[in-house]
Amino acid sequence: MIVLGIESSCDETGVAVIDSERGLLSHVLHSQVELHAEYGGVVPELASRDHIRYLLPLTEQALQQAGIDKTALDGVAYTAGPGLIGALMSGAAMARSLAWALQVPAVEVHHMEGHLLAPLLEESSPEFPFIALLVSGGHTLLAEVDGIGRYEIIGQSLDDAAGEAFDKTAKLLGLGYPGGPALAKKAMSGQAGRFSFPRPMTDRPGLDFSFSGLKTFALNTMQEVVSQSDDASMSEQDKSDIALAFEQAVVETLVIKCRRALQQTDCRRLIVAGGVGANRRLRDSLQDMVTGLDGELYFPRVEFCTDNGAMIALAGCLRLMAGQSQALAIEARARWSLQELKPLS
Ligand code: KG4
Ligand code: ZN
Repeated sequence: MIVLGIESSCDETGVAVIDSERGLLSHVLHSQVELHAEYGGVVPELASRDHIRYLLPLTEQALQQAGIDKTALDGVAYTAGPGLIGALMSGAAMARSLAWALQVPAVEVHHMEGHLLAPLLEESSPEFPFIALLVSGGHTLLAEVDGIGRYEIIGQSLDDAAGEAFDKTAKLLGLGYPGGPALAKKAMSGQAGRFSFPRPMTDRPGLDFSFSGLKTFALNTMQEVVSQSDDASMSEQDKSDIALAFEQAVVETLVIKCRRALQQTDCRRLIVAGGVGANRRLRDSLQDMVTGLDGELYFPRVEFCTDNGAMIALAGCLRLMAGQSQALAIEARARWSLQELKPLS
């Protein structure tokens, strides 16, 4: 079965073609980073318009790179939520219209299921059951995964998502948007041990997270540094040191909760996905922790951690192969719980 996957939930337009027999045939991406940079964050209306601009040319490019004609498609998968409603509708309308014109089924994909299944795009991929750490700009959650569509959320953020905390702290440090990669880069020249940030909610049982306090802690630290400096400003080294302390705090908090989740569920297989999963320090620290437990860690390659069409094509293909597809109405949801999904069998 050959399936086209379309991702347009936020600030990336991604299109991919997957073949259930041959694997991923192509994937192309257009990032809107430059478009939103001057506003310091995603402007929803601009995002929708840009998706409309890029969806068709990217689809043509993905088909061309896959070496197939659109008539070879057996189905079209698209992100139906959660995300920015206008952005979602752009992709949904395009996907549905294409499926209608080709007389093939269309299948809606939950964006976080896309992230969760992204490690299956790799050659060495996990078997079920596993624990999933999903860390993106909008979500931070731990789920026990018994199969496709069998997700039990065992921990989640009570306030800011991990990526959101990276983005907001980066903004406070004047590092611009998107904040996560910028902050991680700045942290590379940081001096460890100068500042010590808290590890929120690790001193009590449970698997929930809270990251908004770290951003406030970063702000207070910055104000202290400024007040103690001769010229009432922060040096580049100050910024790097704060970035490093912040990154270490987020990473160690995530690692502590993942270890706890593995121990509580007696599972030794962990996957990490979502934009923050691209973070080098997080990947290395999780690897050390999982190795210490004699467990297995899986993550998608960095480009499949952040939003992309390949993960949507894969999730859609698996659901289409199991006979699932939706009626012709175009639907999209700004809010959608992962636990509402139908299991495959
Ligand atoms: O999964 P994603 O591309 O979009 C959402 O579904 O939200 O995740 C984007 C988030 C942003 O908050 C971004 O700052 C963060 O992932 N991110 C990172 C890194 N790369 C992306 N955070 C920390 N370190 C990174 N290297
Ligand atoms: Zn995402």
